[in-house]
Amino acid sequence: MIECKDLKKIYINGDVETAALKGVSFSIVKGEFVAIIGPSGSGKSTLMHILGALDSPTSGTYFLEGKEVSKLDDDELSELRREKIGFVFQAFNLLPRTTVLRNVMLPLLYSDTTEKEREDRAKICLKYAGMEESKFNNLSNQLSGGQMQRVAIARSLMNNPAIIFADEPTGNLDTKTSHVVMEAFQELHRKGHTIILITHELEIANFAERIISVRDGAIESDVKKNIQ
Ligand SMILES: Nc1ncnc2c1ncn2[C@@H]1O[C@H](COP(=O)(O)OP(=O)(O)OP(=O)(O)O)[C@@H](O)[C@H]1O
Ligand SMILES: [Mg+2]
Repeated sequence: MIECKDLKKIYINGDVETAALKGVSFSIVKGEFVAIIGPSGSGKSTLMHILGALDSPTSGTYFLEGKEVSKLDDDELSELRREKIGFVFQAFNLLPRTTVLRNVMLPLLYSDTTEKEREDRAKICLKYAGMEESKFNNLSNQLSGGQMQRVAIARSLMNNPAIIFADEPTGNLDTKTSHVVMEAFQELHRKGHTIILITHELEIANFAERIISVRDGAIESDVKKNIQ
């Protein structure tokens, strides 16, 4: 599903060059639940942006489902993101004075669907993400952090993505709430989604079945666990 070879990313700001990725290679097969772990500044978000087709590498090759991503034009890239990828971020990025249901319906607003279809799909995704039905019409700023993140997960599912990328999805949550959210990801994994989750906490990474450690722009270790 994902195959990358010798990915390098150099950021240039004026005369300052930062080598954020220094030659990263790995592959991820369909249905895997992978955590990418590493300290702050190690290149995790940079890697996720490349894998999620939000940014391109300075050099190296990246294949997503057989397509070489760097060869795609902007239209093809947005089509790829729209059809294959879901994103979940640390800061939830929900519209605050908008209901849970409306927030989740949003990604399909400009698609060829009726309001009713979007609403039905949003309800399915919310239930799928473990959100209690009694909260569907609450405003999103009236929720707990864990509930907000479940709404964000539901929203990422609206396009039925083959891959879900999550960058520090538990970064704003307390330990107990983090575990609830990680269980939601484990459930999605059991249902067959490919999940790539970024964290700097080993405890959170341990919810995944494979842990790739990144340090200073390079892969330090890549370990598969025998869980389940
Ligand atoms: N747009 C940018 N321009 C210049 N340098 C950047 C840019 N984005 C990231 N960097 C640098 O690249 C390196 C890797 O950053 P990245 O955001 O990938 O780290 P990270 O592992 O996600 O860290 P964190 O855990 O703090 O989120 C850092 O040294 C960072 O300062
Ligand atoms: Mg980051």
